[in-house]
Amino acid sequence: MATGDYKDKVVLVTGGAQGIGLGIAQAFGQAGAWVVLTDADEEAGGEALQRLRDQQLRATFIPGDVSVEQEVVALMEKVQDKHGRLDVLVNNAGIADPFAGKLDELLMSDFDRMLAVNLRGPMLCAKYALPLLRKAKHPAILNITSTRAFMSEPDTFAYSASKGGLEALTHSLAVSLAPDRIRVNAIAPGWIETGNWQKEKERYEPQHTREDKEQHPVGRVGEPQDIAEAALFLCSAKAGFITGQHLVVDGGMTVKMIYT
Ligand SMILES: NC(=O)c1ccc[n+]([C@@H]2O[C@H](COP(=O)([O-])OP(=O)(O)OC[C@H]3O[C@@H](n4cnc5c(N)ncnc54)[C@H](O)[C@@H]3O)[C@@H](O)[C@H]2O)c1
Repeated sequence: MATGDYKDKVVLVTGGAQGIGLGIAQAFGQAGAWVVLTDADEEAGGEALQRLRDQQLRATFIPGDVSVEQEVVALMEKVQDKHGRLDVLVNNAGIADPFAGKLDELLMSDFDRMLAVNLRGPMLCAKYALPLLRKAKHPAILNITSTRAFMSEPDTFAYSASKGGLEALTHSLAVSLAPDRIRVNAIAPGWIETGNWQKEKERYEPQHTREDKEQHPVGRVGEPQDIAEAALFLCSAKAGFITGQHLVVDGGMTVKMIYT
């Protein structure tokens, strides 16, 4: 996407302080947008803001937990007060570790927390962003789901359920918000390496084995930029005839047939 395609647009990225969210925020910033990051990790948020400003990108950080209704209400009030508009909402914040332990050991409080952040969070953000999005010329919501919405490793109950729910929420919002001209889509990422996109004290140099790479038909593990490029397209007016869809961005991992 060319620099300037999002000129003067305001893009809110939840969980934007690290990982895929920071990659998405950087890409929208490079395309001309003012990016608003929100994240529960204030330390990471401060570092992310500096990282974007060092590149002369325009960014704001508003701390908050997307699963808490009053914090989401306050977030949208701050976006309204500071920017007066919102063009794109990217629901990216999530508890990204999918493993919950065996079913008989699973703590229901952990299950509930996963659902609260990964599913309730996007719902709350969509609900309270609505008045702002309605005023935009080409408004869009993008939900970051996972290929784990469609397939599983053992013991990933809460994560898979949360992402499956978010896929369903995507088409439900798309149909419901179509009269407001708000398009709603999802990206389902596969394995995305975020080591270089963490806050400083948790940053690490990624290392992948040959097996790691070869299980992807494209021959490598994904990067946040891979998701960001798809996000720029799906949220742009160029994708004006696409709503209620998900785009799998996984290097082909989920279409590779395994015969052993
Ligand atoms: N990395 C992958 O391989 C992968 C694959 C599929 C889907 N995803 C999804 O992509 C999204 C980003 O994942 P990531 O790997 O970049 O994770 P990450 O842990 O690197 O980043 C997630 C960010 O969200 C923030 N966050 C967590 N809970 C929050 C809350 N309640 N309120 C506000 N912010 C909160 C964290 O502080 C963090 O900065 C998640 O929704 C994840 O499920 C990731």
